[in-house]
Parts: sequence; C-alpha cells; structure tokens
Amino acid sequence: MGTGWRAVVAGRVGPGGEHRTPSLAGGFDPPSRYTGTVCLCPAWVYVWKPYCGPMKGSILDTIGSPLVQVDSPAGVTVAAKIESFNPGGSAKDRPAREMIRAAERDGLIEPGDWLVEPTSGNTGIGLALVAAARDYDLTIVMPADKSTERQQLLAAYGADLELVEGEMADARARAAELEAQGAIQLGQFENPANPEAHYQTTGKELVEQVGDREVDAFVAGVGTGGTISGIGRRLREEFPDVEIVAVEPQRNAVLSTGESGSDEFQGMGPGFVSDNLDLDLLDRVETVSLEDAEDECRRLAREEGVLVGQSSGATSLVSQRVAREIAEPDLECPEVPTAFDESQQPASPETDGGRAADDCPLVVTVFWDSGERYLSTGLFD
Ligand SMILES: Cc1ncc(COP(=O)(O)O)c(C=O)c1O
Repeated sequence: MGTGWRAVVAGRVGPGGEHRTPSLAGGFDPPSRYTGTVCLCPAWVYVWKPYCGPMKGSILDTIGSPLVQVDSPAGVTVAAKIESFNPGGSAKDRPAREMIRAAERDGLIEPGDWLVEPTSGNTGIGLALVAAARDYDLTIVMPADKSTERQQLLAAYGADLELVEGEMADARARAAELEAQGAIQLGQFENPANPEAHYQTTGKELVEQVGDREVDAFVAGVGTGGTISGIGRRLREEFPDVEIVAVEPQRNAVLSTGESGSDEFQGMGPGFVSDNLDLDLLDRVETVSLEDAEDECRRLAREEGVLVGQSSGATSLVSQRVAREIAEPDLECPEVPTAFDESQQPASPETDGGRAADDCPLVVTVFWDSGERYLSTGLFD
C-alpha cells in the first residue's frame, strides 16, 4: 500500500502537514475549516470528492459536491457549489435523503410504504433515487410543463408520475388527494428536514471548502426555501456579517411584490411563500428574467465549461451583480490552483500592501443541476 492511500484511510493532511483523523460520522475531528494549501495528497481528494475514499455502503452515501471558482470580476472571488455532482444529479438529493431518514427515525415510515410528493422535478428525482435504494413506492405529482428529461428520469428510477395541468399549487392539491387515499407525503415545503439537510451537508461543506476565507455574500434562488435557509443559517453562524441574497423569477416575484405570477422557471418561484423559507435570514431579494438566466446558462457552458440549468443561470447573474458591488479592484485575490498549474500551490496568502488574502471579498452560490436536464427545452440550441 502506497503512502498516498495510507493517507486516505488514516485521515487528511492539515495545512501544517499534520494528519487529521476522520470521525465515525464521516467528517473530520476536529472538523475545523481548512486553513492552508490545497495539496496533491489524495487525502484531500477524499474530502472534496465523495466518490473517492473508502467503499461506500450505498449510492446515498456519495452525496456531496465541489465548490468551484467561476469567472470573477477584479478584486472579488465568485464560487459555486456544483450540485450536479450528487448521485441523482441535483441539490435535491440532499433533502430527499434527509426527509426519508428523518421520517424513518421518527417511526413515520418504513420501507415498503407508499410515498407521494408534489415537485417541479428535482426533488422528485432525488426522492425516486432514495425510494429505489430504500425500497419505497413513490408517486410524483408534477406540473405538465416541466422538462421531459425529468419525466424520463423519474420513470428510470421506477417512480409513478402524475402530470397535472397548471402550477405547483395544482400539483400540491393533487398530492393532498393521494394522501387522503393512504399515501404519505414528505412535504418538502414545510418539512424541517429539508433545510436541515442543507444545514448539515451543503452548508457544512461550504464552510470547509472556503478554508480560511470569509464568505461575504451568499446568493441562492428560492423554491421551497430549503437551500437558502439551511445554508444561510450555517453561514450566518460561521460568518455573522454574511449578506444573504435571495433570487426569484422576475415574472413571479412573490417575495419582492407580494403578488404571484406565471413563468417557466424550473425549480424557482413556487408562486407562494414556503414555510421552509426563513425570511429573517434574507438581507435582500433580487429578480432575474428567464431570458437573461438562459443567456447566462449559454455563456457559462460556452465560456467556462460549466453546464447548468435555468435557476443556476439566475443565481450566477445575481452573484456577479453582488460581486461587482463588493469588489475591491485594487486587491489581488488569491489564486485557486487548477490541474494545469505546475505547482498546484495557491498564490501567496499575503497580497500587495500586506493585506491578508482573506480580505478579498468572496461570493458563494449554488448551481442546482446540470444543463443536461434542460436539453429538450431548447435552452442550448
Ligand atoms: C433547479 C432548481 N433550482 C432551484 C431550486 C430551489 O431550491 P429550494 O427548493 O431549496 O429553495 C430547486 C428546487 O427544487 C430546483 O429544482
């Protein structure tokens, strides 16, 4: 067995070269933030890439995603959690696993039960993945205008799909009818396990992945509110001054205007204020049109090689907006090493003028799913 492999099983190597020991919970003791140089050691790969490390007991244990720097204006860093790395291809694997785990823990469900969920797609796919792995029957109720890839994926995982004409509110009404017939609804809009999943996993990963840098702003779109509330709570604990910015569709801007509207955004803008949205966490709300979001998806794919869906295009635009506001162009931000850098070492942590690298403002966001999930909509044609 080579040294590198031994490092993987023994723990990770800290910034000073010290070894840290993995805890039974799958994290590290001490689970402190990473404070040094990203190195070639495979132990780091274990941390950032859940498909590395020891053999997993289930596909559900591979949930996790990398934080990747995207094009950033001078004097600021913008980075996104690329959630398509999750096994079901979206951020929604996280609440899907946690909602089922919490319900099993509370004795509310057991394998073999019939579950139902109204969803615009990604939660359904996440639930279908977990239901298949844990042996549940699952019916997904979805507005008929959502992409065919979503419908095909649900079928592939063996879930039953009911399409309803109308909006999410109509899908919710139909799910309530099935509940009355004996199905158990997990209720992503009100189930606390949804934001909790993001607090425990996405938010925790983010805090570890930014290392010693402060997060100045966190930008996220709002559907159920699980993502922004769970990650937002974790980031606010760690960085009390972080600005939390919600994004919603321009033509369905319930948070900004109090009025619901109609739009074709998939995943964002449910047309009502979800119980799982913690309004107290939000510093401001920004809106984006579907056309601008889709333009940004095409730009991200063609100019950066980052293939994402509509809501990610929207959060990318707002992240750039916020980044331009808080940029300090005179500041040299630290380089994040790439596979093409010979040394794989980041630039000096001290920048010109003696200011610490973590003075460089940092905006983080979430890219929920892959652009592959939108090919049939013509998004990239
Ligand atoms: C593609 C996409 N973007 C954004 C969201 C919003 O996330 P949340 O429901 O956690 O607010 C969802 C939720 O389903 C989604 O599927």
